[in-house]
Amino acid sequence: MCNTAIKMPEKTGKGTGFDEWFLTAINGAALMMMIAIGHRTGLFDEMAKLDWTDSKTLAAKAGLNERYVREWLKALATGRVVEVDEQDYFRLPGAHAEFLTRDSEKDNLAMFAQYIPLMGKVEDYILECFYRGGGVPYENYPRFHEVMAEDSGATVLEALEEYILPLVPGIEEKLQHGIKVLDLGCGRGKALLKMAALYPNSSFVGIDLSDEAIGWAKREAKKRSLANLRFEIRDATDFDVTAEPEAYDFVTTFDAVHDQAKPLAVLKGINRTLKPDGIYLMQDIHSSSHVHKNLDHPMGPLLYTISCMHCMPVSLAQGGEGLGTMWGREKAQELLTEAGFTNIEIHRLDHDIQNDYYVITKE
Ligand SMILES: C[S@@+](CC[C@H](N)C(=O)[O-])C[C@H]1O[C@@H](n2cnc3c(N)ncnc32)[C@H](O)[C@@H]1O
Repeated sequence: MCNTAIKMPEKTGKGTGFDEWFLTAINGAALMMMIAIGHRTGLFDEMAKLDWTDSKTLAAKAGLNERYVREWLKALATGRVVEVDEQDYFRLPGAHAEFLTRDSEKDNLAMFAQYIPLMGKVEDYILECFYRGGGVPYENYPRFHEVMAEDSGATVLEALEEYILPLVPGIEEKLQHGIKVLDLGCGRGKALLKMAALYPNSSFVGIDLSDEAIGWAKREAKKRSLANLRFEIRDATDFDVTAEPEAYDFVTTFDAVHDQAKPLAVLKGINRTLKPDGIYLMQDIHSSSHVHKNLDHPMGPLLYTISCMHCMPVSLAQGGEGLGTMWGREKAQELLTEAGFTNIEIHRLDHDIQNDYYVITKE
């Protein structure tokens, strides 16, 4: 991922550059709308196959309306995402294509741009919450699970075998041999679909509140004939009392604790459902619990905005705590300890500036 943050001026006010910062930020926000459209329509993928092109050729290749493609190209040209010449021919530079096309899922930044229009769709609901409190349920977020699965496809799937699982001592041997694995808040279940195919001797269970996400996961498991994988629609809010005791050797959560209704109950349930020598791998957002320590976080404004527009309201809508995306390491360690875990190691991975990886055992 890119490692740059929009730097706020030290002080705000006339003559301190805030006006320039504002222009950069509003142009950036506008470009994210265009980049999201470029991703969804496949325009970047088509453009990367061409050299210099006019809007007519590109629109024909992508099967899209020429007038819209032309205006899209002009927005991206002024934003320096694509190049333009004096005859209105456009080109996507190779160095940009690398981050904007589906060629490499791991490096595809365009997909993250989709969070901006996604948040725009719930603005009215969120505005209402500013006046009356409460939250916004998952079903009010069109395409959330689709975009989330693309996101975790890049951060989790691509790195699972090479970087993520090796963080957990001995887990690959155990998975090869045959163990029981639970992924809680699995969404569309992409991590499980991959693990179930890689480790046929192990058995895998995915649970999630969303019938849409679980429906997708079940269809995909069937398509891939994965008999060692089961998905269940299940609300984890009372997992502390409903979790099957000492049932699993390995529990994972990928970006799925902070937006739960009752994160502590979920963590207590994970402790309860793990065997005494079981291991819990928690991927969650990298941050401090204290905003003043997050001022140089490379994705701070984006993640606090996603928190305000999604992670906090979906939890509050379930009568939950609304921890927020940036609950941070301090709070996470406090809740994990309260849930009964004594051994907590936190890791970072080079490819992933967004997340921390917690390797947790009971003893
Ligand atoms: C940010 S998404 C992560 C999804 C998936 N792990 C991934 O990485 O793509 C959080 C997931 O938690 C699920 N979730 C939220 N509240 C839940 C609850 N009370 N019980 C079970 N799942 C819940 C959501 O439906 C969502 O799929």
